[in-house]
Amino acid sequence: MQPDFRGPDFRGHVSLTQYLIEEQRRHGAINADLRLLIEVVARACKRISIAIGKGALGGVLGEAGTGNVQGEAQKKLDVISNEILLEANAWGGHLAACASEEMADPYPIPDVYPKGNYLLLFDPLDGSSNIDVNISVGTIFSVLRCPEGVTHPTEKDFLQPGTRQVAAGYCVYGPSTLLVLTTGHGVNVFTLDREVGSFRLTRANATIPEDTSEFAVNMSNQRYWEAPMQRYVADLLAGKAGPRGRDFNMRWVASMVADVHRILTRGGIFIYPLDEKVKSNGGKLRLMYEANPMSFIVEQAGGAATTGRSRILDVQPTQLHQRVPVFLGSKHEVETAAKYHTDANQTTQV
Ligand code: AHG
Ligand code: MN
Ligand code: MN
Repeated sequence: MQPDFRGPDFRGHVSLTQYLIEEQRRHGAINADLRLLIEVVARACKRISIAIGKGALGGVLGEAGTGNVQGEAQKKLDVISNEILLEANAWGGHLAACASEEMADPYPIPDVYPKGNYLLLFDPLDGSSNIDVNISVGTIFSVLRCPEGVTHPTEKDFLQPGTRQVAAGYCVYGPSTLLVLTTGHGVNVFTLDREVGSFRLTRANATIPEDTSEFAVNMSNQRYWEAPMQRYVADLLAGKAGPRGRDFNMRWVASMVADVHRILTRGGIFIYPLDEKVKSNGGKLRLMYEANPMSFIVEQAGGAATTGRSRILDVQPTQLHQRVPVFLGSKHEVETAAKYHTDANQTTQV
């Protein structure tokens, strides 16, 4: 009989390794290479967590003095976290290539090492504007299969829709360091036991409530939003007296990992919509290493994720660093927000 990870007896006792092995027995979805990949990413996240925890004492805060391909100024910790993830993943033989927010092009596994069948994408440090003010930040990752017969993957080999992800996760460096993981059979949350140095299962089969009265959006962009988004948020703000008939609360950490983790814990809707400032880029958040892995996790937890016009996981990427509008979280609320957009589309088409 398979152990029931949901039982109170297991909480905090199952290590990430044991969980991955049991999951392979249960669903056959985590072969040895994928297990190694997930464990290597988790180990890298531990190192990032330690670097973040040292803060000013470790000399890791502040600007790196460089920019990335997105035209954003890099923090020292953006660069450090990227290097930790690359170094950890180069030699294991489980990867064909990596891609990162912090690198213009895919990083090929050096020829001195054997190559594997997976492609790994990551946002090494999400929410980096929060690092210097000691607010939660995170790491987001997505795992795809390398197309058959490709030994030296290039950008086009990464351009697979989110439905093809074999695993996705994020680590949130908050009061506790948590790893949230899906391999397509639900979502599980592991807490880093700092003394032992291992991640332990602390929440099995996490689910997001379908309804919510909490939304997350950067309200300072309100005047730049499109009309359907303006109408949707106006109705939320109208509260009890408005068409929604109840009051809504608002939270915005400005670290996607922290905002999504709150939603995984107690429900909510996270929104980074199109606005006049980001429209020419297609949105603010990056499809392949922010929106896709978060959407996979949210859907696996019973939530929904859309661009406002279509399911995020169905978007066919055309560029590695492509951006998309994002609405994700509690299923019914995401559907409501999407309806404002589809209704508007229908009106303009008539
Ligand atoms: P990153 O630090 O990886 O560039 O990502 C920042 C993202 C995301 O974490 C957050 O939700 C959003 O940018 C915040 O944007 P605003 O500063 O516009 O609120
Ligand atoms: Mn990010
Ligand atoms: Mn980042």
